[in-house]
Amino acid sequence: MRPKVTVVGAGATGGSTARRVAARGYADVVLLDIMADFAAGKALDLNQAGSLVGYPPNIVGTGSYEDTRGSSVCVITSGFPRKPGMSRDDLLLGNKEIIEIVVEKLLDESPDTILVILTNPMDAMAQLALHVSGLPRQKVIGQGGILDTARYRTFIAWELGVAADDVSGFVLGGHGDTMVPVPSYTSVAGIPVTELIDADRLEEIVQRARDGGAEVGGLMKVASAFEAPGEACAMMVDSIMLDQKRIFPCAVQLEGEFDIDGTFVGVPVKLGSGGVEQIMPLKLSSTEISDLKKSADAVVELVKIMGI
Ligand code: 2OP
Repeated sequence: MRPKVTVVGAGATGGSTARRVAARGYADVVLLDIMADFAAGKALDLNQAGSLVGYPPNIVGTGSYEDTRGSSVCVITSGFPRKPGMSRDDLLLGNKEIIEIVVEKLLDESPDTILVILTNPMDAMAQLALHVSGLPRQKVIGQGGILDTARYRTFIAWELGVAADDVSGFVLGGHGDTMVPVPSYTSVAGIPVTELIDADRLEEIVQRARDGGAEVGGLMKVASAFEAPGEACAMMVDSIMLDQKRIFPCAVQLEGEFDIDGTFVGVPVKLGSGGVEQIMPLKLSSTEISDLKKSADAVVELVKIMGI
């Protein structure tokens, strides 16, 4: 039997995640939405695209959690989307109700699954999912850092006129206004970025990465980003399903690492078949540590409002 990956939420990001995971070819994909026919229609379209691209037409679109039974990984994208002018935090209480229901129902069918959370405000929703699921912290992982890092790398590549593939680095902290890009760990083909871009210009690039989601949404007006988020989720699913052990910035519950305890925050982790297999140690400056703590405090505030 082929392994199964479920994507909850058949909107733009869920659809883009499902398409990418299906195209990798290693798993069957279930696309679940409260609007069952919408999910079924999208799955039909994706299956038909598969016959052109060469992936098997094994995507099921459904509104029934029974179809998700035995999923190795469940990606949760469902929830109210961000509209222009809204911060990710504005979605908190509406999406709390959705995440609680979705996580409970998924766990009924797949008690050993690994959850990847994308719904905003992502760090708080991931913490809620950990709380509701009772899963170990290794199995509840938030996606935000890969996307934020993709934005950061793209802007650096444009600035220098180099291939984005050669820009390496990561963004830490929450997937929100307090995210923490780390120039000290950013390099271009091994050359520290601080030797290539002056500090003021780098700060402008960092700020553009922080505002990356709002910039895309502000331009599109009737949608928010979904291509880069979908790819980011698919890369996490790949690393788990194929035990690739890739190092990605992801939101995980810290338990004392970086002096932060009991809060989800984005840090570089090793992702393999067990989920988060290691939290990578970093030597951060005192400013970076204090920025990371500020970012964690912002998540704590949201968690308090949710009362969990
Ligand atoms: C983004 O950053 C909406 O959080 C999503 O694009």
